[in-house]
Amino acid sequence: MTVQRLVSASSGGSEEEAVAASLRPQSLAEYIGQTQLKENLGIAIEAARRRAEPIDHILFHGPPGLGKTTLAHIIASEMGGELVTTSGPSLQQPTDLLGILTNLSQGDILFIDEIHRLATVVEEYLYPAMEDYQIDFVVDKGAFAKTIKIPLKRFTLVGATTRAGLLSAPLRDRFGLFYHLDFYEPEELARIVTRSAGILSVRIESEGAEQIARRSRGTPRIANRLLRRVRDYAEVRADGAATSRVADEALRMEGVDALGLDELDRKYLRAIIEFYSGGPVGIEAVAATLNEESETLEDLVEPYLLKIGFLQRTSRGRCAGPMAWAHLGFKAPLASSEAPSLFDE
Ligand code: ADE
Repeated sequence: MTVQRLVSASSGGSEEEAVAASLRPQSLAEYIGQTQLKENLGIAIEAARRRAEPIDHILFHGPPGLGKTTLAHIIASEMGGELVTTSGPSLQQPTDLLGILTNLSQGDILFIDEIHRLATVVEEYLYPAMEDYQIDFVVDKGAFAKTIKIPLKRFTLVGATTRAGLLSAPLRDRFGLFYHLDFYEPEELARIVTRSAGILSVRIESEGAEQIARRSRGTPRIANRLLRRVRDYAEVRADGAATSRVADEALRMEGVDALGLDELDRKYLRAIIEFYSGGPVGIEAVAATLNEESETLEDLVEPYLLKIGFLQRTSRGRCAGPMAWAHLGFKAPLASSEAPSLFDE
């Protein structure tokens, strides 16, 4: 079962992509949050520009929805190159990649999303492309096999992954710049919501923006999606203004609670608490209980629950934290050190 979550950080189709594109900051100066990353990336861009060279290959890693694609667009526009986007799963054959690589011009940016999902046979063509700007194309088989070297223009590869740990060492080693994206602070998200509301011509009060920000699980993509739901509600049930009360009512109706958790987050935590006594439990068992892919849970549900301390990952499996029990209305069992012992009076 795949669920379309309102607070899911995965992107939700072409209409949503079109709106997301209109909200995307065009330059680093317009980009809100990720302060340290912005400063480091700004220096790398400026240095490459002064040397009139393409910028080094870059790997972005972090949970979905935090701005990896947006940053690839910004790099292309700041470096004055074209952006070509593709993704690991869509590059099935080496020829898919060869076609793209040979069409790149000097200074173009090739963005590969979900780069950890590249097939090994495709990945191996990337090594000489990244390192020496050439492809070693093997023709014929066995004793007649020959390698033809095809030269490429100097391009920059920007890779994005939610799982840096799944990248092979040879691929990881060929990136010169690594940036980790972390969840945004509520104040940063409130600024992003206010900026987006301006672009979408939504009247929003600062408390309305803060309300949306607090419930966006640290993720701009979710914040912008919730803003559009609040806009709909404000237009139909109120006078169009996104006040704190309107935002609260709209998000409550959508099943998003005060902490931004949605039905899938709550189902996930409830499964651990009710079926597995709070854990530890393996991810595959939870996934089977919920009839979900374990990858969906690992990418879209767990990172934020880990961040807010609702979930702990131990060597023996996942455990629901005491705050998760309380949030869902369960009484957490006493920790073993606090539990009354048989020998206590
Ligand atoms: N829209 C989405 N993410 C953003 C960001 N980091 N800064 C500004 N606007 C955004």
